[in-house]
Amino acid sequence: MEKILIFDTTLRDGEQSPGFSMNIQEKLQVARQLEKLNVDIIEAGFPVASEGDFEAVRKIAKSIKKCQVAALARAEDKDIDRAWEAVKEAHNPVIHTFISTSDFHLKYQLRLSREKVLDKAIKAVTRARSYTPNVEFSAMDATRTNRDYLCQIVEAAINSGATTINIPDTVGYAIPQEFGGLIQYLRENVSNIDKAILSVHCHNDLGLAVANSLAAVLNGARQVECAINGIGERAGNASLEEVVMAIRTRKDFLQLTTQVITEQIFSASRLISRITGINVQPNKAIVGANAFAHESGIHQDGLLKEKITYEIMTPESIGVPQSTLVLGKHSGRHAFREHMKKLGFELTEQEIKSVFKRFKDLADKKKEVFDEDLHAIMADEILQVPEKYKLLNMNVASGTVAIPTATLELEVNGKRFKDAGFGDGPVDASFKTIAKMIGTKSKLLKYSVNSITGGTDAQGEVTVRLEENDIIVNGQGAHTDIIMASAKAYINALNRLAHLSHSKQIKK
Ligand code: KIV
Ligand code: ZN
Repeated sequence: MEKILIFDTTLRDGEQSPGFSMNIQEKLQVARQLEKLNVDIIEAGFPVASEGDFEAVRKIAKSIKKCQVAALARAEDKDIDRAWEAVKEAHNPVIHTFISTSDFHLKYQLRLSREKVLDKAIKAVTRARSYTPNVEFSAMDATRTNRDYLCQIVEAAINSGATTINIPDTVGYAIPQEFGGLIQYLRENVSNIDKAILSVHCHNDLGLAVANSLAAVLNGARQVECAINGIGERAGNASLEEVVMAIRTRKDFLQLTTQVITEQIFSASRLISRITGINVQPNKAIVGANAFAHESGIHQDGLLKEKITYEIMTPESIGVPQSTLVLGKHSGRHAFREHMKKLGFELTEQEIKSVFKRFKDLADKKKEVFDEDLHAIMADEILQVPEKYKLLNMNVASGTVAIPTATLELEVNGKRFKDAGFGDGPVDASFKTIAKMIGTKSKLLKYSVNSITGGTDAQGEVTVRLEENDIIVNGQGAHTDIIMASAKAYINALNRLAHLSHSKQIKK
């Protein structure tokens, strides 16, 4: 079976969409999960876009060993030089350079002639190739580009040294049969096409990104660009988990394979949701909460008799944690460490110390601790930033007659403070009191609560999104008491704001 290369753009196209921004620490965490997933290429970012992007790409390039690491660059010298600076320490660095090729973009956006764009593409690929043998060239808005011109620019890019040619459906306009035909056309009309890997990058504006990607591979494309949970500009990119599981589940028809370790898909999906605070819809293919839930009596009857009646793939194949009781309050440190290893978390002595303590605290409050709980604790741990603000104690009063009141004790820069305040409910009262004590000017953009497992003793997982001075952060908190989880999430977000504003000031 021929292999399809999986080029993950969660950290670049995915991250550039509103509400999905991540800080450097979070990006590194995602990159490590992508490495566990065993994708072929991680597109780590767009280094010229900002100092933060540059630093994130550089750190990812240094720490990732098993995947190629790509950096994006427009067809401009300064972009390519910056991309190279960021990615040069990678094991296997890739420069991905792009320019628009459709007449719409040339006329209204770039205001350049086709000849000029051809010239810029050649120069960009040549420059990138002077740095690294792995150069990808993308013809942006390829699906609305004149086909003869597209063939001409692709041929020139390959002659200049591009080793991968990417055909983006930038605006998600293509229809599968048409897109497959375009790939076929390029293969028949570009004389040197066999000297490069043909790649596709589909957006989901019409809900066809995965279908278009599959039509392309059926017509000879050998790399698919995609993102975890399908995140990306506007309606997103082709979803990695859908592309990969379609190839795995329908290998009988497609006769293709990928090297992705599919058992890591669920963890990757949850990590992105936790970091960005944006959950996937329940009916989302592969990773949605209902993706493996069979509700109909007829289906359940069939499943009980034989799984193949209604199950085309197993939840285990994507690594859905089993909701079985895993550990209790009497479990020892050794059993805990072994269990965490099974879940894919290799913890240092220091990490074991704090995670084990949190597990014990939780086991004290909650009779049963599930794998989902441990994933939540880990996410919480991973996303910690230096704690300028610490929640020491909190009391809330609410009810039908009481005015919702919160009394709090916080530590700010090592000093203890106490205060109390009212609000329109216990969460509002605690947020208002925290805001008053800290003097924050941040704006609350989002507040959401999720129950991690079933039962009234389940941990509530709260996400809080804040904005201040154009910096947007997500904070998370998990606790069996959802008011505590809310306060923790708010303080986590405030710590992140403080941390990011501080790093910004240092860089200036
Ligand atoms: O959608 C697009 O065209 C892109 C390119 C930069 C590949 O993201
Ligand atoms: Zn894109």
